[in-house]
Amino acid sequence: MELVDPFGRTVRDLRISVTDRCNFRCTYCMPEEGMVWLDRTELLTFEEIHRLATIFVKRFEVDGIRLTGGEPTVRAHLPVLVEKLAKLRVPDSASSPRRGKPIDLALTTNGATLRLVAHELKAAGLSRINISLDTLQHQKFIEITRRDHLKNVLDGISAAVQAGFAPVKINAVIQRGVNDDEILALASFGREKQIEVRFIEFMPLDAQDQWQRNDVVGQDEIVATINNVYTLEQVLARGAAPAKSWRYLDGNGTVGVVPSVTKPFCGDCDRVRLTAEGQFRTCLFSTTEFDLRAMLRGGANDDAIAIEIQRAVGTKWAGHAIGNVTFVRPKRSMSQIGG
Ligand code: 5AD
Ligand code: SF4
Repeated sequence: MELVDPFGRTVRDLRISVTDRCNFRCTYCMPEEGMVWLDRTELLTFEEIHRLATIFVKRFEVDGIRLTGGEPTVRAHLPVLVEKLAKLRVPDSASSPRRGKPIDLALTTNGATLRLVAHELKAAGLSRINISLDTLQHQKFIEITRRDHLKNVLDGISAAVQAGFAPVKINAVIQRGVNDDEILALASFGREKQIEVRFIEFMPLDAQDQWQRNDVVGQDEIVATINNVYTLEQVLARGAAPAKSWRYLDGNGTVGVVPSVTKPFCGDCDRVRLTAEGQFRTCLFSTTEFDLRAMLRGGANDDAIAIEIQRAVGTKWAGHAIGNVTFVRPKRSMSQIGG
């Protein structure tokens, strides 16, 4: 049975945060110091994650799972979880084009240690990787992430390509006055490496609550900047995928933009989220959570958990309203929700 929300959108994609911790302190996500981490016992165990994932896939025909954080690779033994989840198959009876096949299992990572685990993750059955990279300049990288890992991230990107992940994508959050001068350099890097770069509009999910509308560099400007040098043609919509994508007319691949602020894609949203401590959220910007961990640990059976998931999806909003007077940002920041 599919999970359909009150606005007729079918849930197909589950984002699971496996830890709130991170080895970076990106300015648009975390404060330099003072993040309070969840205690180990608060995190869902791999068994608990697997049990919930199974309910989503087997009962509700969810056909894609993305592991996020925090930084997912800092969770000990991540490949063990990947191996368990990669065995999940979409039911034969599902309407998904993946019916009868393994789920689409993806990972979003900052890439800092990816050179060490890329092959292991591939062997465990991971299908896709998105790596965050906002700048190619050494000093700028240290300013943004507050860590000196640019070389490791670049090595991680190469390792992911070598390990055979296809596609490998790069996520670049663009902020006015920080890295808006690198849009072309990042696009060129993607063209060279045959990797799709996805430019992400800066969202009000920073832990320090300093986001301002003026800091956002919008899709139109990003596309125009690239198109000035490398002619682009829009690739026609692919349904619920948040990134809109453009093709380089010279054949050198594609580039994407995630226009969360200037052109929200909430109308096509097919995603739901599970935080590292087992709170279920139907939107990045939700202010309500559903405590699935309490149910798991309180002995609830799968039927009861499935009913609670349906109840939660029944409360999903039409959209996030960033920029409207009614917008209330969630109390959690990106690393605590899961990107
Ligand atoms: N706005 C937009 N994107 C963000 N990310 C983290 N914080 C923000 C924000 N405030 C991105 C990361 C990563 C993904 C998980 O989310 O750069 O690519
Ligand atoms: Fe870590 Fe990602 Fe947040 Fe940066 S954006 S601090 S890499 S969780």
